[in-house]
Amino acid sequence: MSTQIAEITREATLSLAPLCRSAELERGWGEALWLEGTQLALFRTEEDAFYATSHRCPSTGAKVMARGILGDTVVESVHVATVACPLHKEVYRLDTGECLNADSLPLPVQRLMEIEGQLWMEQTK
Ligand code: FES
Repeated sequence: MSTQIAEITREATLSLAPLCRSAELERGWGEALWLEGTQLALFRTEEDAFYATSHRCPSTGAKVMARGILGDTVVESVHVATVACPLHKEVYRLDTGECLNADSLPLPVQRLMEIEGQLWMEQTK
């Protein structure tokens, strides 16, 4: 596939969904969001990094992740933000969704962009 065709295909299939103003999210906390039939969890870390994941815990299916406990750890010398499920405390990386303390499925994560104080989520159509 040529670069030009790849760019055209990418533009046709990728769009941005507006979520909220980044200032509306409280530091160190998560919020649940309903977007086009999907429950998401939005997080703002104490360092003002923003993440979006599924609101559904991959371990049990409980829709609780927005009430998870934010934290951080070091994985292979890289500092990563984490969220612990509020029920059984499985810990997931917020950048990749990988579970760090159990043999669990990954937590689905979404790519976000902050543009002039507005949070946008990448969607593939
Ligand atoms: S419900 Fe999420 S780890 Fe148990």
